[in-house]
Amino acid sequence: MLDAPGPAHLSRLDAAAASPNNEVINSSMPNRPKASCSKIGIVGLGLMGQGIATCLLAHGHVVTGYDSDPKKAAATIMHIAAALSEMKRRKLISAESLRTWKSRLHFASCLGDFKSCELVIECVREDLALKRSIFTELEAIVPARTVLASNTSSLPISLLQRGLRRPGRIIGMHWGEPAQIMRYLEIIPGKLTTRTTVSKALRFGLSCGKEPAVLKQDIRGFLSNRLMYAMIREACHLVESGIADIETVDRSFRNDIGWWALLAGPFRWMDLTGIPAYATVMEGLLPELSTSTSVPDLMQRAVRKGSLGIANAKGFYPYTKASAAQWERDWTEFTHAMRTLAEKYTPTR
Ligand SMILES: NC(=O)c1ccc[n+]([C@@H]2O[C@H](COP(=O)([O-])OP(=O)(O)OC[C@H]3O[C@@H](n4cnc5c(N)ncnc54)[C@H](O)[C@@H]3O)[C@@H](O)[C@H]2O)c1
Repeated sequence: MLDAPGPAHLSRLDAAAASPNNEVINSSMPNRPKASCSKIGIVGLGLMGQGIATCLLAHGHVVTGYDSDPKKAAATIMHIAAALSEMKRRKLISAESLRTWKSRLHFASCLGDFKSCELVIECVREDLALKRSIFTELEAIVPARTVLASNTSSLPISLLQRGLRRPGRIIGMHWGEPAQIMRYLEIIPGKLTTRTTVSKALRFGLSCGKEPAVLKQDIRGFLSNRLMYAMIREACHLVESGIADIETVDRSFRNDIGWWALLAGPFRWMDLTGIPAYATVMEGLLPELSTSTSVPDLMQRAVRKGSLGIANAKGFYPYTKASAAQWERDWTEFTHAMRTLAEKYTPTR
């Protein structure tokens, strides 16, 4: 098990340094450490790759992107331009970063163009074989000091390390969506990841305005996805059991857990509201919670019907194209508002 840096380490680093350009981008954000990586490669320019590229460019890094679909370069430029102009409107990006982002963004025609990157972040779809083949190919291209990170949502990093010549430089960096706004970043060392790699990833995350959570062990789904999927399983169970409809479950969740979750995690929440009651309730409740190990029918049916959600205006709720687009705009607006609120209430005590 790695002796990963904890919150004290994080705040020491946080207090110590400045962004890659020595700029403070947001006055509410503490100074960030100088990144140990500044020339960054991104493999896969889909939803996450585009958001991560936006975040890196906003923080002064030089980015090279590659996608097997050549059409993604144009889409990436459009996405970044729109996202950065939104950040400009909210004074979340320095004039210098805004002026220079285009000259700091490059597109590669193959992975061979990642030779001089100090960090490569893999963002292709959640497919172990595909991710492993990318790391195998990258290993033969990049120098020994290059950190290779995966944005996998769930795959154990130790599985990605298997069979590689230098597994110590492989690490999980799990970003939130939208990556340029969220403070969320989970850093997951695999069994063979070195301390140097963890430390580089941590400093890099801080330099991008994140508040990283470093895991002590490599575990499928990491932290936030384990919590979220336990919640989704129970939500589906409640609907499938006829206890409430989808809208009612959502309403209850938003008005209760959704209300406090930005201020407090589950443990702070128990502190705030009294631990013994939770222990008592849990004793009676645990045997009744879903323990199903298969994907709920409700979700399987939606997948079979081709429902992607907002992306194709087909989800658990009915949408028109216009209402789906409005939800996307609301989501962006809301995450900005939440970031402001989260910064106001960052626990320092
Ligand atoms: N969507 C989210 O909210 C989210 C959040 C955190 C992490 N993730 C994880 O991030 C990763 C990417 O997710 P996404 O939502 O951006 O997926 P996506 O499908 O939007 O994008 C994947 C991109 O990878 C490209 N690609 C496929 N094969 C490739 C190859 N061999 N070389 C280069 N590019 C290739 C595709 O053309 C596509 O543009 C997944 O592992 C996912 O689990 C997703």
